[in-house]
Amino acid sequence: MTRDRHPGAERLAVALDVPDREAAAALARTVAPYAAVLKIGLELFVAEGPGIVADVAAHGAAPFLDLKLHDIPRTVAAATRRAAALGVRYLTLHALGGPAMIRAAREAVDAGGAVGRPELLAVTVLTSHGREDLEAIGLPGRPADHVLRLARMALDAGADGIVCSPLECCVLREALGDGPTIVTPGVRPLGGERGDQRRVATPAEAVAAGSSLLVVGRPIVAAPDPAAAARAICEEIAAS
Ligand code: C5P
Repeated sequence: MTRDRHPGAERLAVALDVPDREAAAALARTVAPYAAVLKIGLELFVAEGPGIVADVAAHGAAPFLDLKLHDIPRTVAAATRRAAALGVRYLTLHALGGPAMIRAAREAVDAGGAVGRPELLAVTVLTSHGREDLEAIGLPGRPADHVLRLARMALDAGADGIVCSPLECCVLREALGDGPTIVTPGVRPLGGERGDQRRVATPAEAVAAGSSLLVVGRPIVAAPDPAAAARAICEEIAAS
């Protein structure tokens, strides 16, 4: 368990995008001084099941369960209830699931009482989607317009926060104020590989845009020295 974290760590979530529990434990130990939040994504959750949440919490970081729930309201409410019982701190769902689905998740969390209340984060437009991807799924126009529309809808329906690219974060902060948590994946240190991500920015740019929490995967996970990569990002956050 890590109590003394590096300055900047409070705004860094490391994506544990690794195949199994052993790799996750090794990575969690390595980045523990630099990340207040550890994100469990589909790969790790499907491989290891719900027990992985307690494993991650044992490293002293807040567990972030990134399942991007998107289904009928009853199914999402039931899954949300289960996730809350696991003790996750953040849970994602897709804004495209619509207001009834988000309201059902909200009610599931609220009905659970004070214990095990995850923050519900609505994913607006995936950071891997560019303008042409959105057009292909019938959403022509600027990604930022879709992000803002979906963010307003999701917050009205009861989401606690929003997931978007750092590129739209500034527009959301201006429109929505300081209240909502804004979580930004799509973070790349200067000169870093984009991989499949499209709408990216540096850690300093994400902070300047008003991001509450920066999610970083490959720039740390695939680095030759993940601790050094995490430390450098922390330092950039702290200096911004
Ligand atoms: O490796 P990279 O830094 O691109 O990882 C980003 C992480 O954030 C991945 O785990 C990905 O699933 C997640 N994510 C994302 N875009 C969203 C929501 C979550 O990239 N809109």
